Amino acid sequence: MTRHDSLQSGRLPLVSVLATGGTIAGRSTRQGSSANYRSGVVSGDDLLAAVPGLSAAARLRSHQVANIGSEDMTSDVWLDVVRAAGRELDDPDVAGVVVLHGTDTMEETAVFLDCLLHHRKPLVMTGAMRPADAVSPDGPANILAAVQTAVCPAASDRGVLVVFNADIHAARRVRKTDSMAVNAFSSWGGPEGRVVDGEPVFFRPASSREGLPIFSMAGLDVLPRVDIIYGHAGQERGLVDAAVAAGAWGLVHAGVGMGNIHSAVRPALAEAVAGGVAVVCATRVVDGPVPLTEKIRRDGFIAAGFMNPAKARVLLQLALTRGDWTRGGIQALFDRYSLA
Ligand code: SIN
Repeated sequence: MTRHDSLQSGRLPLVSVLATGGTIAGRSTRQGSSANYRSGVVSGDDLLAAVPGLSAAARLRSHQVANIGSEDMTSDVWLDVVRAAGRELDDPDVAGVVVLHGTDTMEETAVFLDCLLHHRKPLVMTGAMRPADAVSPDGPANILAAVQTAVCPAASDRGVLVVFNADIHAARRVRKTDSMAVNAFSSWGGPEGRVVDGEPVFFRPASSREGLPIFSMAGLDVLPRVDIIYGHAGQERGLVDAAVAAGAWGLVHAGVGMGNIHSAVRPALAEAVAGGVAVVCATRVVDGPVPLTEKIRRDGFIAAGFMNPAKARVLLQLALTRGDWTRGGIQALFDRYSLA
């Protein structure tokens, strides 16, 4: 039921809130501190009850899917979240879904959900940088803006959105760029829009999601191991060899600059490819792409485009669940998803 339908029927639209924990559900361990706290303590119901004006924006129902700090996110919790979100979005009474999540790995979960859910209705993620009992918590305003976005018809057909500090971001472009500030997220290319005095305003039309990575939840029970190797001066090949020996199906190399790789490490990555491991070249640099250069292609690597290492890892894990993956096929996925 959209907001339009709801107004016609005189009922507010229904938003389903899935709570997973995070700082938004945290409590300080030292009074007044926004740095000393335990994440994932307060329930989703209690968080919603603390938001002034929320009941005027939507009818709400909530499910506690997990209550963890998102640094402890696992693929099992991802699978619980995606299944719960899929069920809620399938319910014709639900106008949209809001996922409350820790900020640390929100961009990874956002990509995971974005790649697996193909509903037109909005799915909006949010969280907070300050715990629920801070002097001035940011969670309530973020929840209100997320719910306002989840009932907004213009938020449909945009894939998973992250609403934070009033900005509206697309899953594939958003990343956490500040470890403490309340405006912790930014998007390459800028945000999709902003919630202005309770009304979501979009700066660009919804882009076509046709042909975006289509992964199926059917039979998805485990995700293959993919490790991230961080590039740096003085790097050696040992961590690549260790990851392969530990059973990695894929590696994401967070290279320097345009995805460049230390010459002491490149042979180890090339050997990994020869042994059937998929290697994606990303960059540790905050902005800018890793294009498919001759050097990347020559060794059989895949270029991450605009996907940062953490998000490239999620996309690669999903790509590898397809038994028939090829380097070219995975490259096409990265090109399409990161540039959409
Ligand atoms: C977390 O990601 O759970 C902790 C940090 C936060 O939510 O801001």
